[in-house]
Amino acid sequence: MGNETHEKLVLLKLGGSVITNKEIPKTPNKDVINRIAKEISDAKLGRLIIVHGGGSFGHPIAKQFKIKEGFKEQLQIQGFSQTHQAMLELNQHVVDALIRHNIAAFSISPSSCIATKAGRIQDFYYSIITKLLDTGFIPVLFGDAVLDNTLGFTILSGDQLVAALAIRFKADKIIIGVDVDGLYTADPSDDSAQLIPYIPSHNLKALMHNIGEAKGNDVTGGMKGKILELTPALNANIKTIIVNAMKEGNIYKALKGEKVIGTLIDKE
Ligand code: IPE
Repeated sequence: MGNETHEKLVLLKLGGSVITNKEIPKTPNKDVINRIAKEISDAKLGRLIIVHGGGSFGHPIAKQFKIKEGFKEQLQIQGFSQTHQAMLELNQHVVDALIRHNIAAFSISPSSCIATKAGRIQDFYYSIITKLLDTGFIPVLFGDAVLDNTLGFTILSGDQLVAALAIRFKADKIIIGVDVDGLYTADPSDDSAQLIPYIPSHNLKALMHNIGEAKGNDVTGGMKGKILELTPALNANIKTIIVNAMKEGNIYKALKGEKVIGTLIDKE
């Protein structure tokens, strides 16, 4: 099954606010991770890449040591190690849950195969991921502390990674699992805010000023940052569905291509 080259590839991003409790440092949402692992297992996709975010594992340490801004002082080196290690810890929760559900998940550290230049992916050794996919594995990557060719180091968001992988592997679709139902006409906490079920990719720019900014500890820009990072994939006409992964069944439905509440961004 793994070698069917015609089978379309799906990229699934699991946001940090879904798989962790953002209020309490280093707290995984174990039940949610487990339930999503089951949904992924039930969907039985042959070619899937999973990328997860940092939530309360990666963001607080990255913020404390100003890792995204790049190397400024020796003390940050400790913070770089700790940020990466916190992401490995979270990754282990995710990969363990997937393996418990009989998924051949395989962890790849982005910092081991990617270097950025001024925060953008510059060197990316894809070949291991290609081989893993062709052998039938499901690669699991994550937003990470990475080395940067000009800044020394920085934070690579899971969303930038998703866009790069989707383009490189010609993904059929991208699924972004977050803790809200999708994109809204205003801040979702606002009473007047309405869910936008569909946006033609070319209209996205015009909508950007309405999308909420990051709150709290998020070093990679919240929903607005997410969309900005996904722009290269959207420009390459890869359809993107944003769904609420906190709601049971949504990830399964999105993976299977079934109707699901969320925001679809696609060409007309
Ligand atoms: C951030 O990744 C990773 C680190 C802070 C190390 P993301 O930007 O993809 O994480 P979430 O989904 O917003 O938590």
